[in-house]
Amino acid sequence: MSLTPLGEPRQKFTVASLREKKLRREPITCLTAYDYASARLVDEAGIDIVLVGDSLAMAVLGHENTLSVTMEEMLHHTRAARRGVKHALFMGDMPYGSYQLGAEEAVRNAARFVKEAGAEIVKLEGGEKRVDMIRRLLDAEIPVAGHIGLTPQSVNVMGGFKVQGKSLAAVEQLMRDAVALDRAGVACMILEGIPREVAALITEEVKAPTIGIGAGPDCDGQVLVFHDLLNLTWGPQPKFVRHYGDGAGLIAEAVQAFRADVGSRQYPEDGESYHLPKETREGLETVLERKRALRR
Ligand code: KIV
Repeated sequence: MSLTPLGEPRQKFTVASLREKKLRREPITCLTAYDYASARLVDEAGIDIVLVGDSLAMAVLGHENTLSVTMEEMLHHTRAARRGVKHALFMGDMPYGSYQLGAEEAVRNAARFVKEAGAEIVKLEGGEKRVDMIRRLLDAEIPVAGHIGLTPQSVNVMGGFKVQGKSLAAVEQLMRDAVALDRAGVACMILEGIPREVAALITEEVKAPTIGIGAGPDCDGQVLVFHDLLNLTWGPQPKFVRHYGDGAGLIAEAVQAFRADVGSRQYPEDGESYHLPKETREGLETVLERKRALRR
């Protein structure tokens, strides 16, 4: 396994690097990011793929699901994140409504991700039914990532965020979806919220790397939402979420300390203040002295 040590010169991670890593059986890492600071931190930590996910809707904008986030909102955040990414493959997520109307609309919106926001690959949800659209996107020179299993944009059809692929028929459909995406030429596919056994079967079957989220350890890579990784979300968490840091705790502590310091006039200190240059200070002293003398 070759994990480039932090601080060492790093090669740009590209669409081609995805297959190379699968062939070398090296795990692919992917995290979401939605702005300059988070994208820069993720990129500098050596993560392979930065995904500006439509989870933006929930993690950042506070919506209940991902359905309401718009193209303009996605582009706005994708542009900001782009400025923080130097080495990672930069992936934009097509929001609900930006590709469901047909291939022409999909190409138009995907091209906006590329031209206006610097995306190097776009992701869209769905399996077999997206094959023609994916071919049209590839014809337009836009690499595509697939996304099957628990596809959050289908929340109303699924009747909630539920693990998919539990029955034999559902497993067969997932296999068909994965093979169809692979044949259509996706650069990788996200497997979300499916049993570990099914993810392992798909990973074995397809040439494109599989990147799992709630799909067990046998995928070619793993993705997590930045805010989940850092405990910056509220409410019950899915079982696959692991907190690698307590962002909420850290932020709450810092904000409370600021509040207390301002309340007790301990912030800012003199050393944290700007001062007048000597001549201006002396001049000001003279003016103030004259005013005081006039008042006497
Ligand atoms: O929007 C998103 O963050 C995603 C990941 C969970 C794969 O689609």
